[in-house]
Amino acid sequence: MSEFAFIDGVLYAEGVALTKIASHYGTPAYVYSRKMIESHWREFDSALGEQEHLVCYAVKANSNIAVLNILAKLGSGFDIVSIGELHRVLKAGGDASKVVFSGVGKREDEMAFSLKQGIKCFNVENANELIRLNEVAAHLNKQAPVSLRVNPDVDANTHPYISTGLKENKFGIAFEQAKEVYLQAKLMSNINIVGVDCHIGSQITKLNPFKDALECILVLIDELKQEDIELHHIDIGGGLGINYQGDEPPARADYVKVITDTLKGRGVEVLMEPGRSIVGNAGVLLTKVEYLNATPYHNFAVVDAAMNDLIRPALYEGWHDIKRVVESSNADAIDYDVVGPICETADFLGKNRTLQLEQGDLLAVCSAGAYGFTMASNYNSRPKVCELMVDGEQIHVIRERETLDDLVFGESLVS
Ligand code: LLP
Repeated sequence: MSEFAFIDGVLYAEGVALTKIASHYGTPAYVYSRKMIESHWREFDSALGEQEHLVCYAVKANSNIAVLNILAKLGSGFDIVSIGELHRVLKAGGDASKVVFSGVGKREDEMAFSLKQGIKCFNVENANELIRLNEVAAHLNKQAPVSLRVNPDVDANTHPYISTGLKENKFGIAFEQAKEVYLQAKLMSNINIVGVDCHIGSQITKLNPFKDALECILVLIDELKQEDIELHHIDIGGGLGINYQGDEPPARADYVKVITDTLKGRGVEVLMEPGRSIVGNAGVLLTKVEYLNATPYHNFAVVDAAMNDLIRPALYEGWHDIKRVVESSNADAIDYDVVGPICETADFLGKNRTLQLEQGDLLAVCSAGAYGFTMASNYNSRPKVCELMVDGEQIHVIRERETLDDLVFGESLVS
């Protein structure tokens, strides 16, 4: 259930009107619902039930330490892709022993820090990374827990930029080479093989690709058994889609059921790395209409948020619903391109949206909780916007709006 709903014609986040948020904290602002974040995580966790499992939230989707802290308190694990994300997890009170480290380019310092912290697993993406990890672990006199990320060559039917499980992608070890790399790993004195993982893409709205990937991995697990390699866990990655534009993603419980049914009787721990499905619909980007500009060809609504705040429309042609915060309006319903102030034609948040607008109106760009703020930049020297967490009737500022001085922090003049 969405916690972003209209009450008496005004859009609320839980118990707080977005009009109130705009007048207290200004716009643009990211607004998140604590209830939704918690209930989405719990849906995964409780559907996994008695099955030994760990839900490792993918930090890249939304890495604010308040979000991580809320999830850590529920007992969440974390999927990280950099030392920076590990730093955030630790700052937020996350447990290193529940962290899995994914990513194709892990540096030595990142490996060493993670080994010292005692993370649960390195999701190794190629044979040379394995060699490096063995060396770094030997140097520290430690055993590195390892899973190999296998690329099952499954088409996730998603946008090409967020598809990762095809053989032409840079991610993971090709299925046909995986056994060989496991055999190499077995011979390495500072590598401890604990699992296998895959991640086939993001915003996947069908269950079949997940099932196909898992079945492919089960074949590998059987082959490994014959080589006396027993795996303790299977990590099926993230990727479950959300509803942006009439998408009908499977329910979290149905997704989990396909996985647990396919793994029945295998006696392995199940890990998953959902990101978008936990935070995506739990956040909106609140923005204000600065100007209405009717050219002979187009009607533009120029808002105060831009592609630097939310890059998904520009980068993936991502579609986000755009709603008036105050439902009623006397303005005519017109098709607008909702654009930002940045000097790029790609700077749009939505195209051809039928809206009744006047200058000064507030808009909510929906489903912006995942890959929104985390992909934001300072392009055009725009300070990053504030992030607010609504919890019932309370509003917490979980990241202050950047100041003009923040923009030049760390920069210096040449003498
Ligand atoms: N695990 C791994 C190894 C990943 O690479 C990702 C996402 C996830 C888990 C989480 O996937 P999710 O459950 O959120 O789909 N910026 C893009 C999405 C990039 C996803 C990258 N990897 C977007 O805005 O659509």
